Amino acid sequence: MAQRPINDNIYLDHGATTPVRSEVIEAMLPYWTTSYGNPSSVHRFGQVAGDALLRARETIAELLNARPEEIIFTGCGSESDNLAIRGVMWEARRSGCGNHLITSSIEHKAVLETALQLRDFANFDLTILPVDNFGRVTINDIEAAIRPDTVLVSIMAANNEIGTLQSIDEIGALLREKGVIFHTDAIQAVASNNWDMRQMPIDLMSLAPHKFYGPKGIGILFSRSDLNLVPSLTGGSQENGRRAGTENVAFAIGAAEALRLTMAERNELTDHYQKLTSLIIKGILDAFPDDCILTGHPVDRLPNNASFAFRHLSGNDLLLHLDIEGISVSSGSACLSGDPKPSIVLEAIGLSDNWTRGGLRITVGKQNSERDIDYLLRILPSIVERLRQLSIQFS
Ligand SMILES: Cc1ncc(COP(=O)(O)O)c(C=O)c1O
Repeated sequence: MAQRPINDNIYLDHGATTPVRSEVIEAMLPYWTTSYGNPSSVHRFGQVAGDALLRARETIAELLNARPEEIIFTGCGSESDNLAIRGVMWEARRSGCGNHLITSSIEHKAVLETALQLRDFANFDLTILPVDNFGRVTINDIEAAIRPDTVLVSIMAANNEIGTLQSIDEIGALLREKGVIFHTDAIQAVASNNWDMRQMPIDLMSLAPHKFYGPKGIGILFSRSDLNLVPSLTGGSQENGRRAGTENVAFAIGAAEALRLTMAERNELTDHYQKLTSLIIKGILDAFPDDCILTGHPVDRLPNNASFAFRHLSGNDLLLHLDIEGISVSSGSACLSGDPKPSIVLEAIGLSDNWTRGGLRITVGKQNSERDIDYLLRILPSIVERLRQLSIQFS
């Protein structure tokens, strides 16, 4: 079957990644074509690249109200999570000040798998906290899990599948009081907060520019200046000795420009996203009153996320049929789409087997319009009906 041109398709999977903005591409271009020096080189090409890298770092620091030396460029969001968690835990091992790490059951795999590997291969102690039906970690559970040797708590700012926002300020305040380091994976949440790292009780924060109209292949880690991190990627002394390897100057410039534009347009974007997701949520819940639920918190959620669970249906089947109709969505996390196993996030919020394979995540973006949503709402009922008939026939 001929595939329709990609530009005719409706992209509703901005939680997986976003297109790169034209302003960002324009800002990056010179660092491949004319100003391509290695920022560590002493000569003038190196100096131009080094200045650009510093400018990118300063811009990001200013936007987050942090210091330039607190901004580390990495290769992706996962690497930022890895560096935060491994860096802090190995430093604790080196300096003999604790062995225990706390995280939650609905973290992205970049956090969960890192924590599990530290437990299984290096004998760190790990507590994985449960979440409530909305996907929130409770402050009481965190407080109860803290031990004298607890070094780090890593709790995401917003969940990638169901969009629930955590009470980051409250969690951070508790951890400050207890003297425990706090990392938050804010990879989905960059536009959901006016991040002010001088005011907010956060010690480390991971961001990924490809989630906010910047390039793939670069991550950002904010790490408070009084923290020592043992580097995971060893070699040269780039990034103040915290991450070896020649820096990706063009992508750093692109990351800074993408963050600048996102922060400048934050309110406007939030209003646009909320308008579209309200239409989706109402439209889908009205169309399937008995067999579909909204997952995640009804109010404290990412403005661009509308996530659902369908009873007795496979989210992967839904996404494939929507794709045939030209609508791109996700059945959960992008890394796990296509995986027929039940969603661990849907299990963690207490859904039964009938629901946990039926996740559907719709994440809107800048270029979506009400027409896109009308089309989605028009197409979806016939797909659900078709899949139900098929499951009856084959059961
Ligand atoms: C919450 C969260 N953390 C981490 C990641 C990993 O980021 P990356 O794919 O840039 O490595 C993602 C990506 O989807 C995410 O949504």
